Amino acid sequence: MRFSTKQIHAGVEPDPLTGSILTPIYQTTTFVQDSVDEYLAKGYSYSRSANPTVRALEKKLTSLEDGSDCTCFATGMAAINAVLLAFLNAGEHAIVSDVAYGGTYRLCTKVFTRFGVEFTFADTSDPDAVQSSIRANTRLILTETPANPTLKLTDIAAISAIAKDHNIPHAVDNTFLTPYFQRPLELGADLVVHSTTKYFDGHNATVGGAVVSRTAELDEATRFIQNSTGTIMSPQVAWLTLQGCKTLSVRMEKQSANAAAIAKFLEGHPMVERVCYPGLESFPQHELASSQASGYGAMVWFEVVGGLAAGKALMDSVEIWTLAENLGAVESLITHPVTMTHADVEEAERRRVGISDSLVRLSVGLEDVDDLIAALAAALDDA
Ligand SMILES: Cc1ncc(COP(=O)(O)O)c(C=O)c1O
Repeated sequence: MRFSTKQIHAGVEPDPLTGSILTPIYQTTTFVQDSVDEYLAKGYSYSRSANPTVRALEKKLTSLEDGSDCTCFATGMAAINAVLLAFLNAGEHAIVSDVAYGGTYRLCTKVFTRFGVEFTFADTSDPDAVQSSIRANTRLILTETPANPTLKLTDIAAISAIAKDHNIPHAVDNTFLTPYFQRPLELGADLVVHSTTKYFDGHNATVGGAVVSRTAELDEATRFIQNSTGTIMSPQVAWLTLQGCKTLSVRMEKQSANAAAIAKFLEGHPMVERVCYPGLESFPQHELASSQASGYGAMVWFEVVGGLAAGKALMDSVEIWTLAENLGAVESLITHPVTMTHADVEEAERRRVGISDSLVRLSVGLEDVDDLIAALAAALDDA
């Protein structure tokens, strides 16, 4: 089956009891067993360990990423936490992209370091920088590409080859492009991490996460953490995400087309200092963006002439665009990473990796693109 068919049908079968076309929300704590001897005959015992609605989503995401299996989590951060817990012990070391979601950086620097785990935040866009960061105790490489918020890219195949040489698992946060546009496992990665909160949900309705693994052994390691720490996805969230998945390809196509038009508009506007979108020829890694993925996504950032003050004025006044954290949904959002998504990244570190104070991030939604552009044009005039 091709992607658009799988996003609708994979993992889901008519309910055996009623024929319901949608997998029901199995809102239950426990599952009645036939007998002590046939315990787990139906595969379910207790909803922390496994739940049929969540399992349907895990099967769908496995199919969409072409992995071996998938484990779903309460949030994207719970999914990243599970990868760190599954593959790192005290005294061991991980290489993490120097530009990544602020919560990932916070989890590494403020939680895992307390338990003796060491990190190098490397420029993973440079394979040599990754190679030279490897130590005898390196046990995990975690990259995020395109990275939040600067959109810096990591060459997944190049980093996967280095990881393979050293027998280290390579996990890729594929939240920004989804398997519709980017396929990390095919490029050699071992694990794919998602905040399903974003494009899989697509409607600003839930928070959730997932880890899709290349092998059953890798999945077992993350599933063990899910059950042990109890960081499960709820059946309600899984059900909503199952519905979101069905339109993923259509939304990704249209939101990306909208983003491309908006980036072009911003590039030609005299009040815009700088605009960044992987689909623009001016994007520094445009070639890699074109070869590694089949689409450029729907995230754009720009800086307004007049810097932070002008950018803030624009974000406060712009119509249609909603000032909020989150991305990937049908509603277009405007975000100021320095005070919002990346507030916990120290100023010096933000400057080092190019997250400027005046960076304005756009998550382009599904509204009419002319309305979105007109709203930005009006706000730029005011700014
Ligand atoms: C790239 C990326 N990964 C992970 C996360 C964390 O996901 P969640 O908010 O679902 O915990 C985010 C959140 O913005 C993100 O942008």
